[in-house]
Amino acid sequence: MEIDRRVIRRLIRQSRSQERLLNRFVRSLTWMDGVGQALQKAVGWFYDGLGAPGKTIKNLLHGTNVLGHPLHPAITDVPLGAWTVGVLADWLFVVTGRVPAVAGDLALAVGVAGAILAAITGFTDHHDTSGFELRTATVHGLTMTAVLVIELVSLGLRLWTPGLHMTAIVVSSLGWLLALAGAYVGGHLSFGIGTGVNHNAFFAGPMEFVRVGTRDDFPEGEMRRVEAGGLPVVILRSKGLLRAMGAVCAHAGGPLDQGTLDGEVVTCPWHYSQFRFSDARVVGGPATFDQPLLTVRERGGVVEVKLAHPLQ
Ligand code: FES
Repeated sequence: MEIDRRVIRRLIRQSRSQERLLNRFVRSLTWMDGVGQALQKAVGWFYDGLGAPGKTIKNLLHGTNVLGHPLHPAITDVPLGAWTVGVLADWLFVVTGRVPAVAGDLALAVGVAGAILAAITGFTDHHDTSGFELRTATVHGLTMTAVLVIELVSLGLRLWTPGLHMTAIVVSSLGWLLALAGAYVGGHLSFGIGTGVNHNAFFAGPMEFVRVGTRDDFPEGEMRRVEAGGLPVVILRSKGLLRAMGAVCAHAGGPLDQGTLDGEVVTCPWHYSQFRFSDARVVGGPATFDQPLLTVRERGGVVEVKLAHPLQ
């Protein structure tokens, strides 16, 4: 019995060590969940406190309304790019003296401005994560916040204590190295575990009409989930007309057919993104991508759907 337990423990240790180091590290930080949830509460209170404009501002910062694409990853290029230029300029100034000291200072300041916007958009996105994704997003967010503080210290030293310019350069260089680590975690968050990715990106769906039921399967004012060519689809009969869109929420895969309906707008049960049945457009974040739109036809009591346009 004792031998069996030892074998099992060894197998568990082995299987854990086969997981990538970053995932193992994040998985070990169980205390991080409490921190992440506290941050989510604070962000939620902030937007709720703004009243009706809070929802609009939050949508804007997710990238829902203007971009149709997550805003945060685009913004992060600014601080990473500026700080990289800054570190290069700083060390060229130190080593060669052929680059003015102010070049590194300016690049650092631009990076700090971009990082503040990146932090605002990042913690807005962080608000709508859960589980392992939340823990990874918290590690990423706190690392980048630490970087921002380090870079602000460096900027302060440059502005108010010119005699410590060399110290400021070392501080911002260390901050840049930490930023690379934080950005790696951010990359893993998107590309490794799919945060912010369109959750309909890998479906195909039917380009020709396929049968999904009969007229009686779709009563007025109710949503029904069907499968069409491998694509989960939610169908609504509204004012006699049938509307259809992908049933998997683009944000994180929530089941839209289990959401709440207000007229022709469905609210996802997971993080409350909203989609309009008439054109499958996202009308409320955190989702930033539209749903797959399907054309519906009824012929002889048979209901058929096909994609209104290809998904890829
Ligand atoms: S899964 Fe997040 S809003 Fe739908």
